[in-house]
Amino acid sequence: MSNSYTQHYAQLLDNLEKKSLRRKLKVSESASAPLMKIDDRTMLTFCSNDYLGLANHPKIAQAIVDGAQRYGAGSGASHMISGHNQAHDDLEKALAKTQSTFIPKVKTLFFGTGYMANMAAITALSTLHDASGELMQMSIFSEELNHASLIDGIRLASKQSQATIKIYPHQDIATLRKMLAEDSNPFKLIVTDAVFSMDGDIAHVDQLLDAAEEFNTLLMIDDAHGFGVIGDQGLGALNLFNLKASDPRTARIIYMGTLGKAAGLSGAFVAGDTDLIEWVMQKGRAYIYTTASPPLIAQGLLTSLKLMSDPTHRLSLEKNIAYWHSHLQLKKWRLMPSQTAIQPIIIGTNADALKVAQQLDKKNIWVPAIRPPTVAEGTARLRISFSATHTTEQIGQLIEALHEIEYAF
Ligand SMILES: Cc1ncc(COP(=O)(O)O)c(C=O)c1O
Repeated sequence: MSNSYTQHYAQLLDNLEKKSLRRKLKVSESASAPLMKIDDRTMLTFCSNDYLGLANHPKIAQAIVDGAQRYGAGSGASHMISGHNQAHDDLEKALAKTQSTFIPKVKTLFFGTGYMANMAAITALSTLHDASGELMQMSIFSEELNHASLIDGIRLASKQSQATIKIYPHQDIATLRKMLAEDSNPFKLIVTDAVFSMDGDIAHVDQLLDAAEEFNTLLMIDDAHGFGVIGDQGLGALNLFNLKASDPRTARIIYMGTLGKAAGLSGAFVAGDTDLIEWVMQKGRAYIYTTASPPLIAQGLLTSLKLMSDPTHRLSLEKNIAYWHSHLQLKKWRLMPSQTAIQPIIIGTNADALKVAQQLDKKNIWVPAIRPPTVAEGTARLRISFSATHTTEQIGQLIEALHEIEYAF
């Protein structure tokens, strides 16, 4: 039965379809891995963020089983009520250890998802009052290509705390510095992805930290795609830039790492100076008003962290990226200049990007076509992502298919 609402939404969906913007779900019948069973087909996949190949690791699965036997299925309540379990606490301490070399007096807070972590951290940090309780506004400087979860957190902060939003161009630190110099607000926050999720390039964390110090701002770094992968110990962006807890500038950093990508499971954490993180815990509504994720997840993540400290997975991923770079030769399409596991190829129109993805699909290769609003109009792309568990033969298969499709396109 239809009514004016259902008809209206049906029309909107139809419009999305016509613009090649309607997203469709694929149902996988197997675990996340390079080869997955989908619609009774075995597909070679290059789409997950399971960069180290841990999502299907038997030791993590076993740790989750042990966690369920020890702590049961659910947490039962939010962290602030009775849902904060020993496993959550152990995990927060283990996560703090991963960032303690880089940030002084570090504390971490564990979240069910990175989306929630970003929402909580940004809204809480922009909740400022003076001694009489009068609201104090913050100016938030947001990177142009920030992830949607950062953008949503910033937009909510502007509603809740009247924070002013200023967007600076992608990787343009000179313009950011100019914008900071022109802003007389004493409370400022710079927010950036560390590894840009649809481009694969890495933010100039060292230069951002210099600017943060010079203009007295906080610096929030979303390292969803870097934690576990980049840096000589795989500890993420702060590791890559060799930051030291003894460097007083690092007390300005709020670091967000996710645990559903390289860590292979789910969840996220924010790390920073104890007082900053304690404030996020006190004021982050996305932390306070939600049920804590099951302790068995935290138990599994403790094993993930141990596995991540073994460089074998990371080295295998690096070998795969190097193989891709040395064998791919595009003529019309453009490979983004990325050294990370995210290797996007810009196709252009939405329809063309979709067409290429469909042609790969016909060859049983799954690569997602990313279109606006996730990326800018006219830059629809294939977002190819590599894992430590891809073989060079599988990557060779993708390269051969791309060469063939591009030649005929
Ligand atoms: C840059 C970035 N930040 C945050 C998130 C959100 O993390 P989560 O998937 O854990 O919600 C994602 C991924 O989805 C991401 O790519």
